[in-house]
Amino acid sequence: PLPPRYAVPLPVPSVLAPVRTDGTTDVYEITQRTARLRILPGPETTAWTYGGTFPGPTLLSRSGRRTVVRHRNELPHPTVVHLHGGHTPYGSDGYPTALILPRGGTVSGADDMAAMPGTAAMPGTTGMAGTADSHDSAAVVRTYTYPMEQRAATLWYHDHRMGFTGPNVWHGLAGFHLVHDDEEEALPLPRGDRDIPLMITDRSFAADGSFRYPALDAAQHTPGVRARYMDGVLGDVILVNGAPWPVLPTRRLRYRLRLLNASNARRYRLALDPPPPGGGGLVQIGGDGGLLQTPLAHDSLEIAPAERFDVVVDFSRYRPGTRVRLVNQLGSGGTAAVMRFDVSTARPPADDSRIPARLSAIPTPRPDRATAVRTFHFQRRAGSTGWTINGRSYEPGRPLATVRLGATEVWRFVTDFHHPVHLHLNHFRVTARNGRSPGPYDAGWKDTVDLRPAESVEIVTRFTDYPGRYMLHCHNLEHEDMAMMADFVTE
Ligand code: C2O
Ligand code: CU
Repeated sequence: PLPPRYAVPLPVPSVLAPVRTDGTTDVYEITQRTARLRILPGPETTAWTYGGTFPGPTLLSRSGRRTVVRHRNELPHPTVVHLHGGHTPYGSDGYPTALILPRGGTVSGADDMAAMPGTAAMPGTTGMAGTADSHDSAAVVRTYTYPMEQRAATLWYHDHRMGFTGPNVWHGLAGFHLVHDDEEEALPLPRGDRDIPLMITDRSFAADGSFRYPALDAAQHTPGVRARYMDGVLGDVILVNGAPWPVLPTRRLRYRLRLLNASNARRYRLALDPPPPGGGGLVQIGGDGGLLQTPLAHDSLEIAPAERFDVVVDFSRYRPGTRVRLVNQLGSGGTAAVMRFDVSTARPPADDSRIPARLSAIPTPRPDRATAVRTFHFQRRAGSTGWTINGRSYEPGRPLATVRLGATEVWRFVTDFHHPVHLHLNHFRVTARNGRSPGPYDAGWKDTVDLRPAESVEIVTRFTDYPGRYMLHCHNLEHEDMAMMADFVTE
């Protein structure tokens, strides 16, 4: 039986304290391990976690201060950590074969980056960034170094192991990583306990409480899922911050909600039910890459896997005692419900927050200055299971593009099916959708863009700072595991 709705309070992941900090750097340690979690009213769920919780602990970084995260792998299989939305040197970006091996673990085949032809010669692989701390096959610790030369934004970290990202994230390997900066802190936005990250995921459970995932191979030697899950794995229970259909008591004040769709494959159209009088209850202030120029009021928000929308909801627009559901207009039954906000009957203090009419301004790269225009087709592999980019299944070390650092480029993505397309290293702007102006959910700086079937989207970005080998891929995690991924090289 499914758990009851609106019966558990919304958990908020705890903020991780650094183990060491100095004038330039904050150092964190995370142990990846299995943990028994109470997600359902019935039996406990065995999860694969960052530090024993799902979501993992929230990391907080200050723009311009280096963040170092030492990950220890005590899980029974290899893992990889990627900071999604991070502007990260290659060696710490979580290349899908740059494994953190489990204790005493060895991996067969070409799984190990060291065995990959061409990798040793890549720039950016030397130095302190992203080194396995031991060079033998029993390495269980890897140090990721994030310079954090980037603006305030809602980032998240998750597993990125080649072929097994889907099962690893499904079993719990995801957490928030928030970046703050002076520009954002100077704004009178809701903060403190009224700035809340919401990680939305769908999961299915077996009768014994375990996560149910249709892996081809639970031992993680053969990647992917059975052919009938080609379109991606969906769950029938919606979790927010790891709790099924939770409830949050709110005061009649403004709240900043950092919405993240961390689902493997499910897209949502989120809306408030009832909407506040006059509508426009979800006021978007930020996206994947930080603050928008100006706030954008929505009645509903379509959010594809890996996308983030930072919104402000003003609960003073509701009558005291209103129960406001966050619903998913693309779902049915249980998946049409997400969580509930129970608006207090108490008289609130005066609200110290506001949404300024101007939030931020950073210049957009100009598409007419682009030195290259490239097209990438995201398509099902003809005649068999699997997914391709430009007709190719992913092969580490065979890049589909080589870009010059400093160059502005226009990339066009063309799809056959729903594909949330994600670019590592640099955020981008969406400049066109199907040859017309961008859609209502394309505003601001993004790292993931939602493409519906048979669409084309044009983005512009400037590639900066770090030479290396980065990823362009579909963030439907089953598509990703079934090879809808490509390398691009920056030099
Ligand atoms: Cu969120 Cu390449 O991943
Ligand atoms: Cu896809």
